[in-house]
Amino acid sequence: MADAFFSFFVLLPLILLPFLYFIVRPRPVKIPITNRHVFITGGSSGIGLALAHRAAADGARVSIMARSMKKLEEARDAVKHATGIEVAIYAADVRDYDAVKKAVDEAGPIDVLLLNHGVFYALELEKMELSEVKFTLDVNLMGCLNMIKAVLPDMKNRKDPLPASIALVSSQAGQVGIYGYVAYSASKFGLRGLAEALQQEVIEDNIHVSLIFPPDTDTPGLVEENKRKPEITKIIADSSGFMKPDEVAQKALDGIRHGRFIIYCNLEGLALALATAGLSPQRSFLMAFVEVVTAGILRIAALCFQWNWYGSIEKWHKERKYSPESS
Ligand SMILES: NC(=O)c1ccc[n+]([C@@H]2O[C@H](COP(=O)([O-])OP(=O)(O)OC[C@H]3O[C@@H](n4cnc5c(N)ncnc54)[C@H](OP(=O)(O)O)[C@@H]3O)[C@@H](O)[C@H]2O)c1
Repeated sequence: MADAFFSFFVLLPLILLPFLYFIVRPRPVKIPITNRHVFITGGSSGIGLALAHRAAADGARVSIMARSMKKLEEARDAVKHATGIEVAIYAADVRDYDAVKKAVDEAGPIDVLLLNHGVFYALELEKMELSEVKFTLDVNLMGCLNMIKAVLPDMKNRKDPLPASIALVSSQAGQVGIYGYVAYSASKFGLRGLAEALQQEVIEDNIHVSLIFPPDTDTPGLVEENKRKPEITKIIADSSGFMKPDEVAQKALDGIRHGRFIIYCNLEGLALALATAGLSPQRSFLMAFVEVVTAGILRIAALCFQWNWYGSIEKWHKERKYSPESS
């Protein structure tokens, strides 16, 4: 017993920590935000607006982009009122590459690109129109690719020697598939592949990619989504917690500053990040150590969650089958 204790708590860290310190890649980096140009898509509402507030308060030059000019003007006034700082506003749809390119060119070289825009509907694929599925993928996935294509040439050629950042707002539904999120999860899981591949392509340009995974967050977008969310989606997603946009924005900006590839926002998010670490880049040898030693136990926890969720789905279907409304 004493031998097992010694091996696990003394020998394992002694061997593993130096090894992980040596191999983790990319190497750690610090990305300053003060006095830098932070460009936020979807910056007129919810998490994006909270990011604009925080980045402005932290001394960044902030630009926000969204479709509705009215909402952008309201957001600009709100940030000015709270921080005394004027953010620049650009009206463009992320699905329209030419409009995006024009906005980005007008805004000037970008140091931190925060791709936060997004649309979400929770509905069974069978009940969704194909046009809604395409819209979700076009905005959430193609929109990010359009933005990155438009920003990358100038970001690569920037004169500023400081590291730059491209951060994408995903979702916990981009780490685990959940009933009702077929289209949304497809779009957000897609961001992970995009981010992992992109990080390899831009690392030599001192550009660092982050993926942010918020849980349910109290935003106008969530209020809209809740109007038609299937009951079973609420039951399953309830296990992931609930946050305020400002809390998410703070976690996101801290994560970007530390160059984290995966940015989780709460305790459940940490467990999800560890459970889904897979082949993703990891800069911190300490986090890598935690990933390695918790891998087995977290797989058991994940299987317990699946057992619970499939049980809930089975029960929910049975109740609907025998309810008076369905007969
Ligand atoms: N709230 C949550 O519970 C939650 C949880 C996990 C992840 N997220 C993710 O967090 C991000 C922000 O969500 P939120 O809840 O803050 O949403 P929100 O309140 O609905 O705000 C969405 C923002 O995106 C903009 N936008 C939407 N479609 C656009 C388009 N085609 N082109 C340009 N801008 C567009 C909106 O402005 P316009 O409509 O004027 O264009 C708005 O500024 C999304 O990526 C979402 O998937 C949210």
